[in-house]
Amino acid sequence: MAHSPAPRPRMAGRAGRRDRVTVAHAQTCARLAVMADRTVPTNVSDTARWVAAYRARETARPDAVFRDPLADRLAGPQGYAIADAAPSLMRNGWPVVTRTKLIDDLIAKSIAAGCDRVLNLAAGLDTRPYRLELPPGLLWIEADLPEMVAEKDAALAGETPRCVLRRHSVDLADDSARKAFLDEALGPHDQTGAASKALVLTEGLLVYLDNATVTRLAQDLARPEIAWWIADLATRITRGRAGSVFENAPLRFEPSNGAGFFEELGWQITDLEQLMVWARKLRRLPLVLRPFSYLPQPNPRQPGRTPWSAVIRFQHR
Ligand SMILES: C[S@@+](CC[C@H](N)C(=O)[O-])C[C@H]1O[C@@H](n2cnc3c(N)ncnc32)[C@H](O)[C@@H]1O
Repeated sequence: MAHSPAPRPRMAGRAGRRDRVTVAHAQTCARLAVMADRTVPTNVSDTARWVAAYRARETARPDAVFRDPLADRLAGPQGYAIADAAPSLMRNGWPVVTRTKLIDDLIAKSIAAGCDRVLNLAAGLDTRPYRLELPPGLLWIEADLPEMVAEKDAALAGETPRCVLRRHSVDLADDSARKAFLDEALGPHDQTGAASKALVLTEGLLVYLDNATVTRLAQDLARPEIAWWIADLATRITRGRAGSVFENAPLRFEPSNGAGFFEELGWQITDLEQLMVWARKLRRLPLVLRPFSYLPQPNPRQPGRTPWSAVIRFQHR
């Protein structure tokens, strides 16, 4: 199995040689990662490196549906090694690429509708504050586990975000820490008053939490300062075929009533996009899955045993 970083543009002369040396170094590191058996996430935070590798590979394509120039550096050799060892049906990264593009578009839609703050819960190595067109005064707050926040702070210290960016260390599965974070993040900041039309993102988070924690999170997010919540949901998409990939980062949340789980908690669906259909439209769906994307898609409130994934934007009633 090949383990290589995202292809970089070739450069001439000394820069070209330097570039080849960098690629060779990254390839060696990736091989070492494989030899050290770091081809599966060793903890849930490694999943952030994994998805960053897919964003880096998308960025390197001439027909990229988004560009994330920092992703290659953030993914590192381990991110690429995990991506290359992923189950074959998801190895080209179509679920991550598709959900990234859909969420980018929903963020733009929310901002156009007056969103005045973004809370990215479990932001991982996401770089949207550096790559999206955003109002310069927009306050964007990221939250993740302490080690991930420290790693990201260090890695991006020299980069300039396009809006006002803050990062918080918080265990989002801890009820009191989560509530304290939400109070602080949604309250007044510097010259800015409290949020009144905030957007919350939980991209790639819910699946690692158990049902009870997701229930309490959904209840905590139902507050007047929050106008929208964007989440991704996946059922039966990886389990069974995923081997040891999720051994150290087990998938927990897979509600049998799909999007209905959130409706029962008072959340209303404003947008729902099926990943497989969009992956085909974006030309990222593997050939073998394409016929399935033309079939009637599962009922989002009762996905059953069929693999299904979607990006959903909610509003609280
Ligand atoms: C698959 S990554 C997604 C990262 C990012 N949202 C993205 O899409 O690129 C999952 C992220 O969830 C974070 N995470 C998992 N459990 C968490 C928890 N209890 N509290 C805070 N962050 C958590 C991990 O550290 C990791 O960054």
